[in-house]
Amino acid sequence: MCGIVGVLSKDKDAIKKVISCLKHLEYRGYDSAGVAYPYNNEIKIIKKQGRISELEKMLDFNVETNCAIAHTRWATNGKASDTNAHPHQVGKVTIVHNGIIENADELKKELEKLNYHFKSETDTEVIAALLDNLCQNDNDKISVLQKLEQKLKGSYALGILFSDDDALYAVKKDSPLILGISDDDYFIASDVPAILDYTNKYIVLEDNDIVKINTDYHIYNNDAKREIHHFAYTYDLNSKAEFPHYMLKEINEQPLVIYNLLDKYLKDDLIKLPDLSKYDQIDIVGCGSAYHTALVAKTLFEEYSDTKVSAYVASEYRYQKNFFSPHSIAIFISQSGETADTLACARQVKEKGVATLAIVNANLSSIARECDDVIYIEAGPEIAVATTKAYTAQITILSLLALKVAYQKGLVQSLDDIKQDITHIKEIIVHLINDINYIKIAKKIYQRRDIFFIGRLIDYAIALEGSLKLKEISYIHSETYPAGELKHGTISLIEENSPVIAVITYDKTIDKTISNIKEVKARGAYNIILTNQDLDNEAFDYVIKIPKVNAFLDPIISIIPLQLLAYYVARLNGCDIDKPRNLAKSVTVE
Ligand code: G6P
Repeated sequence: MCGIVGVLSKDKDAIKKVISCLKHLEYRGYDSAGVAYPYNNEIKIIKKQGRISELEKMLDFNVETNCAIAHTRWATNGKASDTNAHPHQVGKVTIVHNGIIENADELKKELEKLNYHFKSETDTEVIAALLDNLCQNDNDKISVLQKLEQKLKGSYALGILFSDDDALYAVKKDSPLILGISDDDYFIASDVPAILDYTNKYIVLEDNDIVKINTDYHIYNNDAKREIHHFAYTYDLNSKAEFPHYMLKEINEQPLVIYNLLDKYLKDDLIKLPDLSKYDQIDIVGCGSAYHTALVAKTLFEEYSDTKVSAYVASEYRYQKNFFSPHSIAIFISQSGETADTLACARQVKEKGVATLAIVNANLSSIARECDDVIYIEAGPEIAVATTKAYTAQITILSLLALKVAYQKGLVQSLDDIKQDITHIKEIIVHLINDINYIKIAKKIYQRRDIFFIGRLIDYAIALEGSLKLKEISYIHSETYPAGELKHGTISLIEENSPVIAVITYDKTIDKTISNIKEVKARGAYNIILTNQDLDNEAFDYVIKIPKVNAFLDPIISIIPLQLLAYYVARLNGCDIDKPRNLAKSVTVE
């Protein structure tokens, strides 16, 4: 949700640098973009509705300045427009903001009484006005920013320029912000990938930190000492390699990401991950695809590890009544590690003294730091908004955790079978990516208005993710049902050639799901079956056959064809696959 960047550069090339950093944050929102920099004794602002590429057309990169702030927006307060785009300027203050100010309406009314007039619908302009007002009676910028923090309710990461001060300032609370450090420059940014073209050294800023950067940097927060981290992962953020989209590139990275995790954690007869067998209640919490991984884990733990697991959507979990015992653990799943609802849940559960475990991708992200323990999924930066490799990497870790419990409990006697499958897992996934004619299947369905997914238990959880992938990138309406539920209402929507995609991998429910397919076929549906079984039935219109592997590995591979089907359907429809409309990859507002 919105990306902010600030650069203070020894060379006078801050505009070039701030824009190049900003481009790596476009996954956070892309409905408008803007930049501000000191120029002829004032702060100049250039901003525009649309992508960063639109903003670039308006910029003069020959302008020499050593300081700039920039923003890419995912609209929350006020529609996407030139006026609502950041930076916002009031008096001597110019700011970029990620977050939501909850008391903005109240503050706005007070400021209007003081003769402040607002041009935009944003809460950010209110912050700028408040800051300008606080500056009236105080020349000390640190003291002004401390007063600002006391007045604001909500979440914010702010990059700030004052027209009467050369320094770049930043403050943050409940929105991510890092400080990047190189020999020549300092950066502030919403996320580490923003700065990687220039440096891999960074500090993770903490809530209520106030940062002042000029020839050096200083963090004001009770004499805060912050560790400098080095981003170790080598990754060419600018390159889609030979792929037309990051999504396809990331799908193709899955064989290695999954194999590396399995190989790292399953060694000899040990699964080198936390032991969850001591817990009698496991809550798994996430949003979007991360929630879908929780549903997959629930079925694995319950069916094969004899352990009760509940899966929750974070935005519900935090407001519902939760039940914990002395032997409860809550697991928080998040690619970004910054999703506001998931983070709030982790904090809430921790306050109650319940054990917490994070499964995240982004190193040192807020959820990773908040929980008692963390497992990194090591998928590398994921650029496409629709998650693929992070989802399968999360499932891989969850599957290993479930396997470990089953092994500890003696429900799985030996790890030999699964180890054998792991030796082939890369080839299996490569085969699923390359050897199935997804374009042919996609051509059958890409012009349909509605597409239905069905499955039972673990197959239902997989179907949910397949359907989400399809709708988020192709904009085709899609719904998922536990296969037996379709006839309780939704079957009324089935008409001639309605696509119904059924996932059939779970042994116990094969016959039942086949009966459901026959029911929709009898009403004219076009059926696509994803299965690891040798099924032959005249009710099936198209069968995608996947290899049969160990049950703990099944869900890792069964999603791959559905990711690719969604991708090719979106491609045939000419959609903007890596940046689907209305979406953002990191959802840092509630
Ligand atoms: C957004 C993304 C999804 C993701 C969800 C949760 O909606 O587009 O791909 O699953 O947020 O994000 P997280 O970073 O917590 O996994």
